[in-house]
Amino acid sequence: MGRAMRSTPPPQTYRVKSFGCQMNVYDGERMGELLNAQGLTPAAEGAAADLVVLNTCHIREKAAEKVYSDIGRIVKDASLEGGAAPLIAVAGCVAQAEGEEIMARAPAVRMVVGPQAYHRLPEMLARAQAGQRVTDTDMPAETKFDALPRRRRTGATAFLTVQEGCDKFCTYCVVPYTRGAEISRPFSDLVTEAQKLVETGAREITLLGQNVNAWTGEDDKGRAIGLDGLIRALAALPDLARIRYTTSHPNDMSEGLIAAHGEVEKLMPFLHLPVQSGSDRVLRAMNRSHDVAGYLRLLDRVRSVRPDIALSGDFIVGFPGETEAEFAETLALVDAVGYAQCFSFKYSPRPGTPAATMDGQIEAVVMDDRLRRLQDAINRHQHAFNTATLGKRVAVLVERNGRHPGQWLGKSPWLQSVHFEHESAGSEPILGDLVEVEIVQAGPNSLHGVPVAVAA
Ligand code: 5AD
Ligand code: SF4
Repeated sequence: MGRAMRSTPPPQTYRVKSFGCQMNVYDGERMGELLNAQGLTPAAEGAAADLVVLNTCHIREKAAEKVYSDIGRIVKDASLEGGAAPLIAVAGCVAQAEGEEIMARAPAVRMVVGPQAYHRLPEMLARAQAGQRVTDTDMPAETKFDALPRRRRTGATAFLTVQEGCDKFCTYCVVPYTRGAEISRPFSDLVTEAQKLVETGAREITLLGQNVNAWTGEDDKGRAIGLDGLIRALAALPDLARIRYTTSHPNDMSEGLIAAHGEVEKLMPFLHLPVQSGSDRVLRAMNRSHDVAGYLRLLDRVRSVRPDIALSGDFIVGFPGETEAEFAETLALVDAVGYAQCFSFKYSPRPGTPAATMDGQIEAVVMDDRLRRLQDAINRHQHAFNTATLGKRVAVLVERNGRHPGQWLGKSPWLQSVHFEHESAGSEPILGDLVEVEIVQAGPNSLHGVPVAVAA
């Protein structure tokens, strides 16, 4: 579909701006690789780009409004600088959910591409250059992953999307509508992509999926396996030091995956397992299909094989009908679990989801108050978790330089950010090294340490 406009010279440079979840970060990187393969180059920091891809998020409100204000700013900046406005593409979940509206409201947008169609970006670009406005929000049978170029370069840590989409239909959530049904990428493709990532420098891979622990496949001997089987296969890659996965659903935590936490050394002791609420009534209204007691039993089982596991969760406050007593149950759950970190959100009605039209929508002031109290509790636990590492030696995977020369930044096995200076170490670390660091300071959001040895 397209409408004629003036044609434009071929773009030379691009910028992809990704918002929202880690899967969008992954998709943004892959779109960049696709554009590189077309001969475009990333625009330098601060320089104008000929093509701007806004890779959007639709999970909570204001995301769409942000897209329009971003488009306005890009057009304004270009006219202030006296240059031509760049080609603008809107990608991601807002594109999927509101593609037609975007085209109608924002004439500067030339391309709208959904999260399952971005492998077709080069063809769309050709048509946009020819003067058309192009929308592609198909969820085609062929998978985008087969059409994407091979990975070229990565940092010490990399994302790898193994599963996409969601069949759970929690009543508040747009993901099943924007990302589509659950699909698992084939085992051999994933092993190949992981090998490539490791060859190009990745020491840690985070396996991504909206329901990553629902991943299923067949291994190279044709045996049916789950995510634990994939993790075990990837753990055999010699230069890969760490494996993580996110986001999981409590109902897909298999025995095998729990066991892997006790058995696979490269699988980091960290589990992000959203629960959303501490009230069984609210969980039922959310269509979560698990209750609080079941969730706590699950955590006990994981802790029994991996006692030092760091737990993380997502919470929504102010779901329609949530009473003060039900919210208090959420606070009690946070205290009972003692999370290492958590994400917490005010409920945001999403058009087209069942919860958006439920009775008992909660007032903004009440939500603000509940969010503040929840975040206080979460921060208290996070700080306590960090403080417990004081004096301990932890392995830090070096991810980047700090703000000052000689400063380094990396992550502990429990996903805590750790800063350290290299002067006291025997040899200077490089990105991707595992450095043993003694923790001397613990703040609410990060740790500071002194290196004792560079491991490799
Ligand atoms: N409102 C608020 N938070 C939401 N999330 C998903 N949908 C909504 C919504 N409509 C949160 C959930 C989920 C996380 C990715 O975003 O906590 O786990
Ligand atoms: Fe959304 Fe629920 Fe699916 Fe998570 S499990 S993506 S919250 S519908």
